[in-house]
Amino acid sequence: MNIKWNANMYTENFSFVHQYGNSVIELIDADRGSSVLDLGCGNGALTNALKDKGYLAKGLDASGELLNIAKEKYPDIDFMQGDAVDFMLSEPVDVVFSNAVFHWIDKSRQQDMLKCVYNALKKNGQFVFEFGGHGNNQKIHDALTEIFSEYGYCYEMPFYFPTIGEYSTMLESAGFQVQYAVLFDRLTDLKGENGLKDWINMFVKKPFLIVKTEQEKIEIVDKAVKALRNDLLINEKWYADYVRIRMKAVRL
Ligand code: BEZ
Repeated sequence: MNIKWNANMYTENFSFVHQYGNSVIELIDADRGSSVLDLGCGNGALTNALKDKGYLAKGLDASGELLNIAKEKYPDIDFMQGDAVDFMLSEPVDVVFSNAVFHWIDKSRQQDMLKCVYNALKKNGQFVFEFGGHGNNQKIHDALTEIFSEYGYCYEMPFYFPTIGEYSTMLESAGFQVQYAVLFDRLTDLKGENGLKDWINMFVKKPFLIVKTEQEKIEIVDKAVKALRNDLLINEKWYADYVRIRMKAVRL
């Protein structure tokens, strides 16, 4: 999983990602002092929230840029660089936590990631996470699909958004028992008058690699944003049509 982030813009404009993550932390049922790995910790905001809850929190992320921000902001937390689909801890932890990360991992690599999580957990350890679920940002991806085809391109949706059934099966075959699962809509407000345009430019990069010119790219984004005004501009505020999958599983 190798994504190049605009770390400062991510931290400034997309802070809702970790603000929503606070309610995922509530699913953890462990004593103070329990060890928790924040998998895909990004700028460390949620690793710090875990620490504030009394956990012995550490973070792992692939992005050196985001880790630099995390280390500077939270110098007393242990942050490590590593890939979610290929990591190993020196000692197993009581809990693995993750927010808004797994949709970036290709379906073909999910089992590799789950195997790493399994090996990172103590027996009966908890795996608590949320990410984009089935139907996430469907309106945005549908609009982009349509505008791409007007320009003669095929839009390849770059994310993995599973159903509860599909992901539960994966968890079970990786040695976990699912204890809690929910899929829910969460209309998410975006910052500023260019909220949706900024969101597309920030997060939807891969499909645009086939677009031949920068001018075409700008036009496609503008047209998609225009097409989405009816659905996602509400009282002059932009929203993204998020769907979340939130789960808790135990390592057997
Ligand atoms: C999400 O958190 O669901 C998400 C964020 C950016 C791109 C795709 C999904």
